[in-house]
Amino acid sequence: MADRTPLIAGNWKMNNDHLEAISLVQQVAYRLEPEDYERSEVAVIPPFTALRSIQTLIEADKLPMALGAQNCHWEDAGAFTGEVSVGMLSQLNVTYVVCGHSERRALFGEDDATVNRKVRAVIDAGLVPIFCVGEPLEQREAGEAESVVDRQVRAGLEGVDDPASVVIAYEPVWAIGTGRTATSEDANAMCGYVRDIIADLAGDEAAETVRIQYGGSVKAGNAAELMGQPHIDGALVGGASLKADDFAVICRHHRG
Ligand code: PGA
Repeated sequence: MADRTPLIAGNWKMNNDHLEAISLVQQVAYRLEPEDYERSEVAVIPPFTALRSIQTLIEADKLPMALGAQNCHWEDAGAFTGEVSVGMLSQLNVTYVVCGHSERRALFGEDDATVNRKVRAVIDAGLVPIFCVGEPLEQREAGEAESVVDRQVRAGLEGVDDPASVVIAYEPVWAIGTGRTATSEDANAMCGYVRDIIADLAGDEAAETVRIQYGGSVKAGNAAELMGQPHIDGALVGGASLKADDFAVICRHHRG
């Protein structure tokens, strides 16, 4: 059995200026014990403007937390007003970069090809994509959830030599920010389905090793049950990651 340490990542979205960000990370750190960090990897994913402050805090206080970014551009540099390259993120000791979040897909026109460019740029720079997939409600109701996820996974990982080096986040769009969570059985089944796609793309060992998170209204009250599922290797947490108490409880999910 591969060691798939769960990754609990707080995706803050467009929330918290750099001062609020420092305060939130300090409050989370205060609530976690060394054992919690041993059982799960903990990452915070603030807006770009807080990355430098959080990097400095993590290093100064020697916090065993990883830093993530919410987006990137796939080119190294150039005339791309408003964009941030993976190289710039890497200089801030960013480990994870979210690629293809459903909000980017739905609100900012990112298609599978764009997401694939980002995933490959992140890997090429030696960072780890948190590659998001998940079906909108309409497609779930039409019985197309698996085919949507299948298409997204294969397209997003095209040209990726080692899919196991990617963290995949299964986030059904209808569960994001809505308070509706997939049942732990459904979430586990879809994460298992994604694992089967990885087996098909890269073999059983890659499928056994790849970390697959669930995201979509993960909360203090449902984290332990979701994390207890065999195919779920962590959580991408939005709303609940903005509250130190709630996020800390999610990070301590192993305590039950
Ligand atoms: P939520 O967001 O936890 O607020 O549903 C999850 C996400 O968008 O990553």
